[in-house]
Amino acid sequence: MTHPADALITITQRPDTVFASGRGSWLTDEAGKRHLDLVQGWAVNSLGHCPDVITQALLAQSQRLVNASPAYFNRPLLDLAQRLVAASCFDRAFLASSGAEANEGAVKLARRWGSVARDGAHEIVGFDQGFHGRTLAMMSASGKPGWNELYAPMPTGFLKARLNDLASVERALNPRTAAVMIEFVQGEAGVVLADRGFVRELRALTAERGVLLIADEVQTGIGRCGTAFAYEHFDIEPDVMTLAKGLGGGVPLAALLCKEHLNCFRPGDQGGTFCGNPLMAAVGLAVVDAVCSDAFLAGVRERAAQLSAGLQAVARDHGLVGERGLGLLRALELPVPCAEEVVKAALALAPVGLLLNAPRPHLLRLMPALNISAAEIDEGLALLRRALREAQL
Ligand SMILES: Cc1ncc(COP(=O)(O)O)c(C=O)c1O
Repeated sequence: MTHPADALITITQRPDTVFASGRGSWLTDEAGKRHLDLVQGWAVNSLGHCPDVITQALLAQSQRLVNASPAYFNRPLLDLAQRLVAASCFDRAFLASSGAEANEGAVKLARRWGSVARDGAHEIVGFDQGFHGRTLAMMSASGKPGWNELYAPMPTGFLKARLNDLASVERALNPRTAAVMIEFVQGEAGVVLADRGFVRELRALTAERGVLLIADEVQTGIGRCGTAFAYEHFDIEPDVMTLAKGLGGGVPLAALLCKEHLNCFRPGDQGGTFCGNPLMAAVGLAVVDAVCSDAFLAGVRERAAQLSAGLQAVARDHGLVGERGLGLLRALELPVPCAEEVVKAALALAPVGLLLNAPRPHLLRLMPALNISAAEIDEGLALLRRALREAQL
């Protein structure tokens, strides 16, 4: 008996559940069971499943123009670039399809700038446990243990420092350094937060040394942390920023943004078949319009405060280590390495299931839709308590 998944190249373990449809914070599987989704495609579906603004943007743009060619301008590309520049501290944008691709673009831009402005500087200083994507170069840029040899030989020129340890950054900086690349919240590492003081000192240090600061906001950007971009929490301005995940609200869309003086690619240096695709850009525009308003972001902060308080109560009542996070990117730390069991128990709850993510054996990560309701958060917390009990916590 063959299984339908036998036609897939095996890349990871997945539950047998096949999801068929989604609406807002809810996913329904092929058996008709509903699940409250606190994963949302790994912080991708910023407005939940199938929101009207995305459906309408897709429909309208698909009837107008799906693809002109990356060799020509198209209106959604121009509009989204302008919208991102207006919403941020940056002056220029390049659109791509994934976080890794945007980060590769950031590294290329830093190396190009290093070659013209810094005497060939090309090294990138990243952080232990950091995550920047799965291309070979981004695996080198990431600080995930074991990734430096998984597909060896790996691209070189990527050094590591320790988050919240400025002296370790100072040790890594040298005349070959082009940029420091940071996640303000290390999501895949387990929602590890950069300290405000550290980020401010890092900004000052990189400016003093004439080195670029690249903010990887693939996971933290577009409202996830309660502000349009996480860098706003630290009152600093990076030189370069990358976005993906929440920007497309579920479609493959990413962006690389930079200050005017870094607009230094020569024609042909950077590009890609789907870079600036109008169908995806039209969705991005709809998402940014919906998320980057004061009223919407105030709602995200309210829901984040509710979720944080609820998780603290859960941690207290179930004897867990605690909760942490920024905005609606939150984590619950368990006293024993049973996060996978809790995820399985949550999925199996009846009559409705709960979708959770376990980036580490001791850790559950919660990344609900940014427009999740107060009642859905309460329901999620109640389901979480049941799943913890099922897992003997
Ligand atoms: C901070 C960060 N950077 C980059 C990536 C890679 O993005 P993508 O999977 O879209 O290539 C991720 C994905 O989880 C991420 O969290």
